[in-house]
Amino acid sequence: MKIGIVGAGNIGSALTHLFQAAGHEVTISNSRGPGSLAGLSAETGARAAAIEEAVRGQDVVVVAVPTIKIPSLPRELFASTPADVVVIDTTNYYPRQRDGHLDGIEDANTESEWVERHLGRPVVKAFNTIEATHLLPGAKPAGSADRIALAVAGDDARAKSKAMALIDGIGFDAVDAGTIAESWRQQPGSPGYLKDYDVKGVRSALAKANPERQPDWRATPNSPGTYDLPA
Ligand SMILES: NC(=O)c1ccc[n+]([C@@H]2O[C@H](COP(=O)([O-])OP(=O)(O)OC[C@H]3O[C@@H](n4cnc5c(N)ncnc54)[C@H](OP(=O)(O)O)[C@@H]3O)[C@@H](O)[C@H]2O)c1
Repeated sequence: MKIGIVGAGNIGSALTHLFQAAGHEVTISNSRGPGSLAGLSAETGARAAAIEEAVRGQDVVVVAVPTIKIPSLPRELFASTPADVVVIDTTNYYPRQRDGHLDGIEDANTESEWVERHLGRPVVKAFNTIEATHLLPGAKPAGSADRIALAVAGDDARAKSKAMALIDGIGFDAVDAGTIAESWRQQPGSPGYLKDYDVKGVRSALAKANPERQPDWRATPNSPGTYDLPA
């Protein structure tokens, strides 16, 4: 498949390695432009391009920028993206460390509903539940013991199953986590977040999740702080 990646930091670059290794044709982009991605391009064989190029003509587009940066993506970025292109949202809201108080996430809705409103199109939520550094070492062939499973939420069954097949093809089991409105089940602070559970563990964690945003995942008056010193 043709896969575009918007944001080639921790998560975007790890996915670039895995997608290229699985035979996909990957286009990577960031805010500084393709010249800054020469290293990742040389390592993986992915094509570095402007953000618009990473979105145009793809089968799948992965959005892997910090949540606070979502509103700074070019307006109309997805305006002419066909409805059958799968847009995967990897983002997590870190109000105390990085993002500050974001209206519309803090008190209502799921994080991905907020992302959908900003992008102006539906997303599939995936890859948000695993540490980026666990992606390369954690990938295993289908059927391996203790294969890590990733929760996948989305409203379009076809898009979700395409994302789940993509995940299986790069080394992880995929678990259907329901709709975007229910995707609080896999947000930061949920029982399965960053736990690297297998299918059974992810299903059990999703079932135990609580929609209430926990205090550690709420902004404070001093937000944002830093990862070392959360506000
Ligand atoms: N790190 C993890 O372990 C992990 C795991 C799961 C999910 N996530 C979530 O995934 C998202 C990305 O996290 P990350 O750790 O990969 O972040 P990161 O390492 O800081 O990388 C962010 C990337 O986004 C790009 N970017 C920022 N603003 C942009 C814009 N306006 N247009 C285009 N590109 C832009 C940056 O490009 P420049 O460097 O050129 O600015 C950089 O390539 C976050 O929401 C995070 O919470 C992270």
